[in-house]
Amino acid sequence: MDGKVRLAPSILNADFTDLGGAIKAIEPYSDYIHLDVMDGHFVPNITFGPMVVETVKRVTEVPIDCHLMIYNPPEWVETFAEAGADRISFHVRSCRDAESVIRAIRTLGVSPGLAISPEVPLFELKPFLGMVDFVLVMCVYPGFGGQKLMPEMLNRVGAVKRDAAEIGASVEVEVDGGVKAENLQQVLEAGTDTVVVGSSIFGSDDVAAAAADVKSLLNKLHTGV
Ligand code: DX5
Ligand code: ZN
Repeated sequence: MDGKVRLAPSILNADFTDLGGAIKAIEPYSDYIHLDVMDGHFVPNITFGPMVVETVKRVTEVPIDCHLMIYNPPEWVETFAEAGADRISFHVRSCRDAESVIRAIRTLGVSPGLAISPEVPLFELKPFLGMVDFVLVMCVYPGFGGQKLMPEMLNRVGAVKRDAAEIGASVEVEVDGGVKAENLQQVLEAGTDTVVVGSSIFGSDDVAAAAADVKSLLNKLHTGV
């Protein structure tokens, strides 16, 4: 990582009657655009699929960060790669053979990540930390935007980095769920490299201004100026 902290707005709560406008509004402040794919089985919600990835890809150059909250990711990673995903994270408990999914994602030229929910013990990630580019640490139970961040999850950021360092690896850690201006300092102090922010951007009347505010706060807190 280059020491920068990245912002990945989640479009889960965006205004889908004007998705293009929503993307244009956040684009100048976004390092990634976070797309939450849910299948109604792995999590109790259904959102969108590869078609929305293609749609977003058509209107922006910002890399697309696909967070798959679905069972059987092996069946889908190629489709999401072809749709335009630049990064794909999937949940360690969503399939039997995470290693082969990680390899498949990388073979497709996409950056692989592993996501972990609050109820899953960190040791389940250990076998894969040398294979992935990033780990997505969830600070809410997956399925919905607008939930409250679980602060006890933040110490997982340092723990994942230590676990990776133990095997001579280093991973980018992305924190996802409940991140807002009010807790951003705490999230950054935990050592987070990338923050996902959804409802506190898209819940605002002025999405562009909200994204700009989060990005400038991120930069201010990170550089200390
Ligand atoms: C929840 C998703 C998150 C969520 C973030 O399952 O993975 O990306 O959309 O939205 P906020 O920031 O509102 O928690
Ligand atoms: Zn997400």
